[in-house]
Amino acid sequence: MSGFMALLRLRVLLCALLLAGTAQAQVASDATVRSPDGKLAVSLRVSGEGRPEYSIQRGGRPVIDWSRLGFILADAPKLERNFELVGLQEKSFDDRWEQPWGERRFVRNHYNEQRVSLREKTGERRSLVVVFRVFDDGVGFRYEFLEQPQGSQIGIVEELTEFAVAEPATAWWIPGGEWNRYEYLYNKTPLAEVGQAHTPITLKTASGLHIAIHEAALVDYAGMWLRRVSGRRLKAVLSPSSSGPKVSRKAPFTTPWRTLQIADSAAGLYMSDLILNLNEPNKLGDVSWVKPFKYVGIWWSMHLGTHTWASGPKHGATTAETRRYIDFAAANGFRGVLVEGWNEGWDGDWFANGKDFSFTEAYPDFDIVALAAYAKKKSVRLVGHHETAANIAVYEKQLGPALDLYAKLGIDAVKTGYVADAGGVQALGDDGRIHFEWHDGQIQARHHLRVVTEAARRHISVNAHEPIKDTGLRRTYPNWVAREGARGMEYNAWGDPKNPPEHEVNLVFTRMLAGPMDYTPGVLSLTGSGGSRIPSTEARQLALYVVLYSPIQMAADLPENYAKYPKAFQFIKDVPVDWSDTRVLNGEVGDYATIARKDRRSDDWYLGSITDESPRVLPVSLDFLDEGKKYSATIYRDGKGAGFEGDGHAITVETRPVSRYDTLRLELAPGGGQAIRISPRKPAVKKKENKKPQPEFDVE
Ligand code: NOJ
Ligand code: CA
Repeated sequence: MSGFMALLRLRVLLCALLLAGTAQAQVASDATVRSPDGKLAVSLRVSGEGRPEYSIQRGGRPVIDWSRLGFILADAPKLERNFELVGLQEKSFDDRWEQPWGERRFVRNHYNEQRVSLREKTGERRSLVVVFRVFDDGVGFRYEFLEQPQGSQIGIVEELTEFAVAEPATAWWIPGGEWNRYEYLYNKTPLAEVGQAHTPITLKTASGLHIAIHEAALVDYAGMWLRRVSGRRLKAVLSPSSSGPKVSRKAPFTTPWRTLQIADSAAGLYMSDLILNLNEPNKLGDVSWVKPFKYVGIWWSMHLGTHTWASGPKHGATTAETRRYIDFAAANGFRGVLVEGWNEGWDGDWFANGKDFSFTEAYPDFDIVALAAYAKKKSVRLVGHHETAANIAVYEKQLGPALDLYAKLGIDAVKTGYVADAGGVQALGDDGRIHFEWHDGQIQARHHLRVVTEAARRHISVNAHEPIKDTGLRRTYPNWVAREGARGMEYNAWGDPKNPPEHEVNLVFTRMLAGPMDYTPGVLSLTGSGGSRIPSTEARQLALYVVLYSPIQMAADLPENYAKYPKAFQFIKDVPVDWSDTRVLNGEVGDYATIARKDRRSDDWYLGSITDESPRVLPVSLDFLDEGKKYSATIYRDGKGAGFEGDGHAITVETRPVSRYDTLRLELAPGGGQAIRISPRKPAVKKKENKKPQPEFDVE
C-alpha cells in the first residue's frame, strides 16, 4: 500500500461560497484518482445544487467533460441532487489471474480505486456510493445502493449517468431499442449524429484517441443503451421492463460497471482486459470440464433452404444425416456436431412463438440416444440445441429435464436461441401472466444467468444466440463460452444485404471488445442461398478464425463443400481455439485488422488479417516469435484476381522459413484476407548420404 499513496493524488476541497446578493450557498467538492501510470485521472465534484458529477482527463487533456450521475426512482424522490460528500476511501490493487481459456492465459488486473460516499444534506438523508476504478487502459465505475433506513426495495425508473465526450469524434454504433436486437450493420457517423446506440460504442476523437463505452458484469439489472441528449453528451437509457421500473432490486446491491476503454489506437482498445477485470473471479470452482472446441453441424443447409428445421421431406436432423456429420467430424478432428431441428416444435409458426417446443422429445427420425452413443464411440460429441423463440416461460419450465437429458447423454455444450424481434421475450410474471420483455432487460439478464448456472451444475457449456450483450461474465461463469449478439454468417446465406467486408472489420473493434462471438466462419464455398455470392475470399474465411475470437468455432460449410477445397480446409483443421497470447499487429476501425495468437497447447502462432473492400499491403513484423528459434510459415493468401467481387477462390498456399527478424508483406485483395500458421521447425535429422535434399521453400 505504500506506493499507492504516491500514485494516488487525492484532493478534497470543501468550500462554501456565499454568492453576493443571494442567499444561495454553492459547495464545490473535488476528489481525483489516477491510473497506476498516472496518465488517466478521474475527478468527482458535487456541484452547486449538490449534484455529483465526474470527468476524465488523460495526460492533462479532457476526455469526458463534467457528466452527471444518479437515478430516478419509482417510489421515492430522485437520487440526483442535494448531496454532500461524506467519505472517500482509496485502494490500490495489482494482481495477475489465469484464464481457464481465452485470448491470453494470464491477465493483469491493476488499478487504483476511489470509493465516494454521498449523503443527502436534508430530508431523508439517503446515501449513494460511487466506486471508480482507474486502470492504465480505462475507467470503470458503478453505484452501490446501501441498505436504506426507508426500506430495502428499490425501483429504478431510469439511470441518469452521462458521458459528455470532450472532443468531436467519429462513432461506430448500432441502434439500441430498435426492432432488431443487435443484428445490424454498423453506422459510422460523427458522434454528434448518434441517436440511441447499443454498447460497446467505439469512438475515435479528432486528436486520434480511441474510446469504447460499454459495461461490465451486467447481473440482475437492465442493459444500458446510450442516447445522445445534446452535442456530444450521451446518457444512459436502461432497457425497459414490462413491470414499470426498469430495475427492481432489494438493497444492498451494486449496479453493473460503466466502462470506458481508452487507448491511442484501435489495437490498444482491443488489447484491453478492463471488462474482464471488472468481473468477479470464477465462481464455479474446477472448470476443467469446460472444453474449447471446433464443431460442424446440420445448420448451414437450413439457412440455405436445402434442409428444414421442421419435420417433413427436407428435415435436416435425421439419424442418417447426423451419422454422416459425425463421421465427417471424426475424420477431420472436430469435437462437436451441432444438430438443429432435432426436437418437436418446429412445425408451424415457431418464430417469436415457441409455445410448441419440447426440449426432451426428439422427432421420430432422430434417434438421439443412439446418435450420442455413436458420436462418443468416435470421440465426437453432439452439441445440443435449444431454440426457444424467446418464449422463456416455456423454456424455463423444461430447463431442468432438458439439461438432465443432455448430461445423461454426454452432451456437454448447448447452443440456445431467442429468435423474436426486440421486445418479444415472453416471460412469466409474478402475477402468473405472460409479459413481453426486451432481450436485454433485467428479466433476460436473470434468465441467462439461470440457464448458465443450471448448465454449470451439469457440466454443460452455453453458447447463446439472440443473447443479451456480453459484459465479461465468462470470467465468473467460464461455461458461458460464447454468444452471437451481432450479424453473423447466417446473413451471408439469406441476408439482404449480406455482410459487406467492412462489417467483419467493424466487429473486431466494436462487438468483439465485449467478448467471444459465435460468428460461424469457414464457408469456403462462398455461396449463400439460391447460389448467391458471399462477398469474401477463401483466404479471408480462414483469417476469420483468428481475427474473430471464440473458444468454440464452427466450420460452418457443408462437408461436401469442404471436399472441394481441401487446401484451405487444412487450415480450418489446424487452427486452435484456445490461446496463451494475443497481439493486435495493426488495425483501424472499419478498415483492416491483423491479429496474431499463440496456441495454448504448442509453440505455434497463428495470424489472421482482413480488410474492408479496399485492397491493402500491410507490413507485419514477426518480432513476437522467440529469439533464436527457426520457424516455418504456411501462408494462405489471396491469389491473383481474388476479391469479394472477383474470384473468391483464388488462393495461394505457400510455405517459407521465418524468424523474429522477418517482416512479412501481407497482400490483401479487396474484401480479402490472409491466414498464416507459424510453427517451430523440427531440428534437422541427419540425412542419408544419397537422399534427395528437401527444398527450403515450396509453393503448392
Ligand atoms: C438464429 C441463430 O442465430 C441461428 O444460428 C439458428 O440456426 C436459428 N436461429 C435457429 O435456431
Ligand atoms: Ca441470429
